[in-house]
Amino acid sequence: MAFTGAGASAEAGIPTFRGKGGLWDKYKPEELATPHAFSKDPKKVWEWYKWRMSIISRAKPTRAHEVLAKWEERGILMGVVTQNVDGLHQVAGSKNVVELHGSVWRVRCSSCGIKYDLEFGRIPEEELPTCRRCHGLLRPDVVWFGEPIPHDQFNRAQKMFSEAEVILVIGTSGAVMPAAMLPINAAMEGKVLIEINPEETNLSSFSTIKIREPAGKAFDKLDKILWEEGSLEDR
Ligand SMILES: NC(=O)c1ccc[n+]([C@@H]2O[C@H](COP(=O)([O-])OP(=O)(O)OC[C@H]3O[C@@H](n4cnc5c(N)ncnc54)[C@H](O)[C@@H]3O)[C@@H](O)[C@H]2O)c1
Ligand SMILES: [Zn+2]
Repeated sequence: MAFTGAGASAEAGIPTFRGKGGLWDKYKPEELATPHAFSKDPKKVWEWYKWRMSIISRAKPTRAHEVLAKWEERGILMGVVTQNVDGLHQVAGSKNVVELHGSVWRVRCSSCGIKYDLEFGRIPEEELPTCRRCHGLLRPDVVWFGEPIPHDQFNRAQKMFSEAEVILVIGTSGAVMPAAMLPINAAMEGKVLIEINPEETNLSSFSTIKIREPAGKAFDKLDKILWEEGSLEDR
């Protein structure tokens, strides 16, 4: 299985939060990605999300997204647990995707809780989108700082980790809890973690194999080794 973070989409042109050129260099998370920020200034939070959505809507899946989808289709990858909210795994064709932190392509009513799916690339036009049912304020259906991961997603993720033998840990700093506990617990249980990240992270010391390359480049090579050089041809 694969566990992905913002770095998996970095080569698609979507800024990460941490690491070189990360979003937190320019913006303060506590002013934008929190429930408090939304109740204080929903327009500002929506402006930030629409800006991020416009970047994501122009992005194309990277080689890493493509290869993960291909490996799932060929039956050697169980699925992906992602911390990303961009929807690029699904655009690339991955089917078994757990979105731990939600998706910017879904909104939720802050009053009645109903959820609305948005098509990939469809950015709400209104300054402050409202619920068709109760006229409450809609918010991005993402997990903000201080909010819990929805139980159903966390349970699905735990199940995938418990069934996996090898976990590809791609482009995550391992700084966001409780998401980062999933690969850490797996490593403690003796599972093999393969980290693909140009930089050292909190998860490096738990990883058996470390590939210090950008994800797109690494997956291009890994895919060639697995198929073009023939080792998995018969599967
Ligand atoms: N694309 C997105 O959906 C997106 C973008 C930014 C932040 N986020 C959110 O931010 C939170 C941040 O945690 P996180 O751990 O996912 O990201 P992070 O920003 O904390 O860390 C990014 C990691 O990616 C690595 N990286 C940078 N370029 C890379 C590349 N080309 N290939 C491989 N690795 C690369 C960095 O070294 C760093 O370790 C997540 O919960 C997520 O919801 C999502
Ligand atoms: Zn509503």
